[in-house]
Amino acid sequence: MTLDDTQAYRRLDREGMGALIEGLPAQCRAAWEQALTFPLPHEYRGARRIVVAGMGGSAIGGDLAADLQAFDGYAPVSVHRDYGLPPLVDQDTLVIASSYSGHTEETLSSAEEAWARGARVLAMTTGGKLARRCQDRGTAVFPVPLKGPPRTALGYSLFPLLAFLQRLGVARDRAPDVGEAIAEMERLAGGLHPSAATAGNPAKALAERIGERAVVTLGAQHLTSVARRWKCQIAENSKAWAFWEALPEAHHNAIEAMGEQSVNRDGFFVVLLRGDAYSPRMARRSDLTAEALERAGIPHQVVSAAGESALAQMMTAVLMGDWVSYYLALLRGVDPTALPIIDWLKERMAEG
Ligand code: F6R
Repeated sequence: MTLDDTQAYRRLDREGMGALIEGLPAQCRAAWEQALTFPLPHEYRGARRIVVAGMGGSAIGGDLAADLQAFDGYAPVSVHRDYGLPPLVDQDTLVIASSYSGHTEETLSSAEEAWARGARVLAMTTGGKLARRCQDRGTAVFPVPLKGPPRTALGYSLFPLLAFLQRLGVARDRAPDVGEAIAEMERLAGGLHPSAATAGNPAKALAERIGERAVVTLGAQHLTSVARRWKCQIAENSKAWAFWEALPEAHHNAIEAMGEQSVNRDGFFVVLLRGDAYSPRMARRSDLTAEALERAGIPHQVVSAAGESALAQMMTAVLMGDWVSYYLALLRGVDPTALPIIDWLKERMAEG
């Protein structure tokens, strides 16, 4: 198929994934505003540690917030993707249980463990068992109003965290960066949209270049978890193998798979995320990665994030990845929304 054939969109994207991706900038704004006025319990302010517990599309917002905190040099945020909680969680920890559906058993287990340890708990969810258990315990719930698959609710899994971090006094006021991030996403939106022809649409053009290959996304610093977001979106939307790597670590191992001697060089396409906010040493590492890929003749593309602030660069790179994963789904003839295997797994796990 060709990505400029609008009939194909209607045939394959029956549940409107494209419209949800298109809505991301507005969603980020709504989530941010809702979180600024959300009645955050006063006692959360004294928390010495912040742990976001969640899985998949409900965890990635925590990763992005953690990267931004690290990049800006503020209090660390850690993300827990598993049952239970790490040993360091105690009464001085704020555990934010993030589950779009409120039914994810790993996240429910983390919330139970947080209550058992006397930690401060906050939930971010549309409802489900998590909301009910919070109600029974008098725990605050930030309500997610978006209708769609959890991974499309990234605005609601990231921007409330940013608002809470500044309201808790562990981050600076990020309102200017939030404004810039949304403005930059809106500026790019038209050119990435299905109505923009492939010749002038970088997301369509990149999806065409990737074709049938597996994608490896490389990021660093504030773009580390953006690389992970690309992997998750390509796996879920495009039903295709994707992997992510982070610099500088990849320069100590994965880079050897990107050289002349790599045995499966034709099967992979490397996306190198680049942001002006990289430190000079990291920018040099990124340039050298591109040089190594070029020398080895491995298919790759540098994707440069837009905007000045780290957050704007993160969100523009996320938006590009979301659209690329969408176009890859269409090129491969799959419905970008349906998750038959994840649904099957959840059903089977619920049985036993
Ligand atoms: C589905 C998706 C998944 C879910 C994950 C956890 O769109 O992105 O990765 O996010 O299975 O489910 P929730 O988010 O409901 O806790």
